[in-house]
Amino acid sequence: MKAAMYENIVGKYSSPRIYKSKLRLWPDNTERRVPRWCSVDMRDGNQALVRPMSAEDKIKFFKLLVHLGFKEIELGYPSSSGTEYSFIRRLIDGNYIPDDVYIQVLAPAREVFIRRTFEAVKGAKNVIMHFYNNISPLQRRVVFNTDLEGVTQLAVNAAKVIKECGDECRAEGMNLIYEYSPESFTSTPPDEAIYVCRQIMDILAPNDGDKMIINLPSTVENLLPNHFADLIEYFISKLPNRERAVISIHPHNDRGTGVAAAELAILAGAERIEGTLFGNGERTGNVDLVTLALNMLVAGIDPGLDFTDILSVRSIYEELTGMTVHERHPYAGSLVFTAFSGAHQDAINKGLHQMKESGRKEWAVPYLPIDPEDLGRTYDSIIRINSQSGKGGAAFILETQYGYNLPRAMRVEFGKIVQEETERCGTELSYDRIFELFSSTYIDIQKPYRLAKYKFDDNTDRLGHSVVSFSGILNYNETEYLISGSGNGPIDAFFNAVQNLDISDYHFVSYSEHAVSSGSDSKAAAYIELKTPLGKTVFGVGLSHNIYKASIKGIICAINRALAADEE
Ligand code: KIV
Ligand code: ZN
Repeated sequence: MKAAMYENIVGKYSSPRIYKSKLRLWPDNTERRVPRWCSVDMRDGNQALVRPMSAEDKIKFFKLLVHLGFKEIELGYPSSSGTEYSFIRRLIDGNYIPDDVYIQVLAPAREVFIRRTFEAVKGAKNVIMHFYNNISPLQRRVVFNTDLEGVTQLAVNAAKVIKECGDECRAEGMNLIYEYSPESFTSTPPDEAIYVCRQIMDILAPNDGDKMIINLPSTVENLLPNHFADLIEYFISKLPNRERAVISIHPHNDRGTGVAAAELAILAGAERIEGTLFGNGERTGNVDLVTLALNMLVAGIDPGLDFTDILSVRSIYEELTGMTVHERHPYAGSLVFTAFSGAHQDAINKGLHQMKESGRKEWAVPYLPIDPEDLGRTYDSIIRINSQSGKGGAAFILETQYGYNLPRAMRVEFGKIVQEETERCGTELSYDRIFELFSSTYIDIQKPYRLAKYKFDDNTDRLGHSVVSFSGILNYNETEYLISGSGNGPIDAFFNAVQNLDISDYHFVSYSEHAVSSGSDSKAAAYIELKTPLGKTVFGVGLSHNIYKASIKGIICAINRALAADEE
């Protein structure tokens, strides 16, 4: 470590002041309440896009958000441009807004902009009128050249205009909720934020009936998540008439801890969250509502947002925003249900088997915190085979994708073969390539021995035991042998039939079989393990509509493999 690396710049940054709530109850809070979700994709998210969405795109995005279950959706900043304004009118006049959805519009704390914003939502049934101004000491000094009183007056004057316009809208039947954001809340001493907010509440939520939303933005995320939770608890505990406010948070993600901060803030009393899908938004983004909601789901809580087809959500989002969701995004990333390491693959394989066999309801699969099926994703994307994979992965793919259930010892052997192949080609292997390897190694080995003809008869001897008689033609390269023999089963009968041939020194070790179906066709797969004359173990697999024939083909394959290995 180069100790002097940051020597000249450490003094440049100072850690933010920490406001500890005296109560500090939130760390012991274990109750995870589902917040009111508000999507700000179409405002905060949209304004941060390289190419902002067109009106058509925004309508599609709006439909997506409604489909996902959002009941509060910020549409834009109608006083900022004609396009924003006319898009909102189009949504209202075109009757796109369901009766149970509140549209939210943002206005700065300035009279003309506020009046224009009210015009934009005329005729809408449910509206959240959201206004804001920046109150942090830094912005007061650098941008507005004013003091706390100055920013408070700006907000108070704006609240009065909002009240006047809002009263008219309410009289006309609009369901109207007010929202105020003290911008840069986390960079402002909380007593100052409380000073501003209480005056706004006195105007817009003067009695018990009219709750308003007090939205506390981490405009630039600057606190550790626990300090943010402290701040929220402090604010709530000190805010006069707290019951008249819905406490909302609006985390950004500059420290990369937006989700953690939001989760702790909920413990500390936050009741509502503004954020975006996949964390799009200014700079490093707004808090990611997909992750937040699904973190709740894996904790056993229904988040009330529907991500059961997360890949469609991802693809619509990518198409409309031009952004890409990272491969490792929790839940939605293309690689998050893919295990590369063999140990992980083995454990996942075992976990999935146990889930199936035990009929257990509670999800318990190692390395998979969530059942991919709950997000509309499939098991077949779970395991990919590369040089880091061990024995379990390839066998798992043969079983789940192709219906071959390899005996345990054979899994180990085949795992090594697959690993050698990945090392040889330096890439991961497709499922089809894995199956090809399996077939060419264990099934399709027709030389030097090949069964040209066969016949089996099932009989019973004098003592009532079953006897299988076998007769057939066995080719050794170009030479044909007519063979026949009997035994207590097809394998025994075959070994008796080849007693006079060179292969009589191979000994049967184990056998397993099962049906494999592809479409309407069903075949038997027989797995044969033999001991070679040199004492080695060798496997072969036979595949046939006839189970007896499958067994004999399996034996011949095993012998052919052993002979080929001897030649190497
Ligand atoms: O990040 C922010 O402070 C905002 C406000 C307008 C709520 O987006
Ligand atoms: Zn924001």
